Amino acid sequence: MNQFISVHDVADINALVAKALGYKANPLMHHQLAANKRIGLLFLNPSLRTRLSTQIAAANLGMEAIVFNVDKEGWALEFEEGAIMSGNTVEHIKDAAPILGNYFDVLAIRTFPSLINKVDDYSEMYISQFIKYAGVPVISLESATLHPLQSLADIITIQEQLIQNKITHKPKIVLTWAPHIKPLPQCVANSFAQWMNAWGEADFVITHPEDYELNEEFTNGATITQDQDSALKNADFVYVKNWSTYNDYGKIYENDPKWMLTNEKLVISNNAKVMHCLPVRRNVELSDEILDGQNSLVTQQASNRVWAAQAVLAEVLKPLTPKGGL
Ligand code: CP
Repeated sequence: MNQFISVHDVADINALVAKALGYKANPLMHHQLAANKRIGLLFLNPSLRTRLSTQIAAANLGMEAIVFNVDKEGWALEFEEGAIMSGNTVEHIKDAAPILGNYFDVLAIRTFPSLINKVDDYSEMYISQFIKYAGVPVISLESATLHPLQSLADIITIQEQLIQNKITHKPKIVLTWAPHIKPLPQCVANSFAQWMNAWGEADFVITHPEDYELNEEFTNGATITQDQDSALKNADFVYVKNWSTYNDYGKIYENDPKWMLTNEKLVISNNAKVMHCLPVRRNVELSDEILDGQNSLVTQQASNRVWAAQAVLAEVLKPLTPKGGL
């Protein structure tokens, strides 16, 4: 694997999930895999889970991880080709990225979207510029449109549940929009849809209010409905997430609390397990009763971020280490 930006970088999703579960069972089985290798974790936006889980994953492989909070500690970066840098930006990505590529064997980067310029965001301008100029493998820690490490952890969690609960039928998995007080990226929803469709082992349904359609590039293959109740019927898993509008980009049209998931709504589900990537606004996106209840998988999902990151790092390191690292 030369990079990890989307599901398209993964040859076999189930093999990657199995690798992650192998690391969960035995975290230190490859504790020397990346000895003397160094990863730079560059954050242009805040994080709790992504930052810490990736650091732990790197440590489990013997890799040194250096975190750089670019947004707080770095020079303001310019990403536009040909920019006349007479404004607030201090350093061009084409000057900074090759240096980072010399310092590190692998770069991992978090770059949220602007939610203002759809063309720039959906061209993945920021992470693409790092890939273009760094000269080392790049791992997405959430980019403008996708969050692949989260989606891998989500599928790991679903797979564990299928095994643990001896579910042998094709599971019904529902992604439902939830209210929020501010416009959020579409990344988690786009990414989950992209991975679900590529995985192909679920009956995948997306439900959202009018005007919250996602980009069809990611949702094609899913059943899409604005009727949340019909979507929840017989669901085995419900993934709750807010996103801002895609078509009229980055807006909140309504914040209808009726869309918040409750236990009452879940009665028609198949005793559905409830997922959310976190952080979550309690009693806005998801009720206390669900988050604190037995069907919530949110802690398991977040814990699985370590094994998702470890499996991806091991794959990315293969070409960089003798005998594929093993
Ligand atoms: N789910 C997730 O990416 O969490 P953080 O933003 O805290 O990293």
